[in-house]
Amino acid sequence: MNDIPYDPNTRFPRPNDPTICYLKSVVTKPNIVIGDYTFYHDFEDPTQFERRNVLYHYPTCNHDRLVIGRFCSIACGAKFILNGANHRLDAISTYPFPVLADAWCDATPVAQAWTNKGDITIGNDVWIGFEAVVLAGVSIGDGAVIGTRAVVTKDVPPYAIVGGVPARLIRKRFDDATIERLLKLRWWDWPPERIAKNLCWLRQGDIEHLRA
Ligand SMILES: CC(C)(COP(=O)(O)OP(=O)(O)OC[C@H]1O[C@@H](n2cnc3c(N)ncnc32)[C@H](O)[C@@H]1OP(=O)(O)O)[C@@H](O)C(=O)NCCC(=O)NCCS
Repeated sequence: MNDIPYDPNTRFPRPNDPTICYLKSVVTKPNIVIGDYTFYHDFEDPTQFERRNVLYHYPTCNHDRLVIGRFCSIACGAKFILNGANHRLDAISTYPFPVLADAWCDATPVAQAWTNKGDITIGNDVWIGFEAVVLAGVSIGDGAVIGTRAVVTKDVPPYAIVGGVPARLIRKRFDDATIERLLKLRWWDWPPERIAKNLCWLRQGDIEHLRA
């Protein structure tokens, strides 16, 4: 058991459970940014997240980033597909010649073998379901939910639940006024002691009770 209460730098927050890790403790690449308390669960080895779940990520070439906020829950097998996956659609051939052989390198920079759609940006308190796929260039708002096996091709608004291929809005988690208040409240930035004091309210649906 970790002796420091609420330590976001610990690797395995649950005692004797190596299937859940705080991602911040295992990610090493500077172009992957993970907020405190965001965890990944994997039935095999969650510490391999960077290698097995963040795919086609060649930031020295594409300068793209995966940014994930605080208190996100990422289920087993969720994948983040970055720009090295996007063969160009506007070229005569989609074949990435310079990647395959030096002899096929012309004066064109290698990065131009791909279409760069930008970073993947995920807010705070986002729940990403089992084997969901998030594509390059997508932003997911705070409090959103990504259903099992969704393929997220477009931005997801805060507190939206999306699912399917391609992912479509299923419903919003709260009415618009409540969502606005939650986005101002930003409970995920509170000190952990304040979060602990409000736990019973955070775990229910009534925003009125949340307190300093
Ligand atoms: C999306 C989810 C959160 C359910 O949300 P919900 O609002 O309770 O949704 P409901 O079950 O009431 O279904 C509402 C509609 O969404 C559809 N739906 C539910 N989950 C879906 C999914 N993963 N993909 C596509 N559609 C989905 C339902 O078929 C239903 O469609 P209909 O309106 O045409 O009948 C849930 O289905 C899900 O995918 N959870 C993730 C579970 C998971 O992966 N956990 C990992 C361990 S942490």
